[in-house]
Amino acid sequence: DVANMKGLTQGRLRLGVVTTAKYFAPRLLGGFCERYPGVDASLKVTNRERVLERLQSNEDDLYIFGQPPAGVDVEAVPFLRNPLVALAPPGHPLAGRAGVPLAELGEYPFLAREPGSGTRLAVERLCDEHGVTLRVRMELGSNEAIKQSVAAGMGVSVLSEHTLAGGGEEVAVLDLEGFPIERHWYLVYPAGKQLSVAARAFMDYLLAEGARMAESGVSEIPRSPQGGWPVG
Ligand code: PGA
Repeated sequence: DVANMKGLTQGRLRLGVVTTAKYFAPRLLGGFCERYPGVDASLKVTNRERVLERLQSNEDDLYIFGQPPAGVDVEAVPFLRNPLVALAPPGHPLAGRAGVPLAELGEYPFLAREPGSGTRLAVERLCDEHGVTLRVRMELGSNEAIKQSVAAGMGVSVLSEHTLAGGGEEVAVLDLEGFPIERHWYLVYPAGKQLSVAARAFMDYLLAEGARMAESGVSEIPRSPQGGWPVG
C-alpha cells in the first residue's frame, strides 16, 4: 500500500538550486523528508552559473533554475511563479509613484548581483530590450546583502519577490514599467537521465506542492501592496 511504498522510498537525494530558491526549498525539502524519512537529502545553494556547472558534471539528482538553461539538453518543469521586483529605499523619489518609465531606473545608483547570477541576467535582458543603461554602484554576491544595502539607502535593485518573504527590512517595491519580471522556477535534469526513486518522489512532491500553493493562494509569496511595502 501507499504507506509501505513511502517507507520503502529511500536513498540519497541531492539538489542543486539557485540562490533565491533558498527561500522556499528548505521548507519543501523538510516536508518531503518528513514524508519519506528513509531519504537522505542534501541541498547545494549557489548562483546560476555554478548550478549549471554542477548539472553539466552530473553532481546532483535534480536542479532548480529561474530560467531553463539554453544550449543544454534538459527536461525543465515549471512549478511555481518567481516574479522579480524592483526595490528602493523607502522615501526614494521613485517609491510610491505609479507607472514609472524604466529609463528612470538608470538615473539612480544600482546594486547589482555578481556576474553568473540569473537574476542579473534577467535584469540585463530587460534593460537591453529597452535601451536602458544602469549605473552600477556596487556588485554584491548575495540577495540578502543587496536587500540590506537597499534598506540602508545605498541604491536601487531588482530581486526575486521571494527574498522579501521574511519581512523586516524597510524597502519599497517600485511600480516600474516592465515589472514585475514574470518568471517561474523550473525543476531541471539532464534529458534522458534515469531518475532515482527518491528523485522521482521529490519531483512528484514538488509539483503537487506547487499546484497546491498556486491554487489555494496560500503561497508564502508576499503580494506587494500598491505603492510598495508599508514602512516600519
Ligand atoms: P541567481 O539565479 O541566484 O543566480 O541570481 C536566480 C534566478 O535565475 O532566478
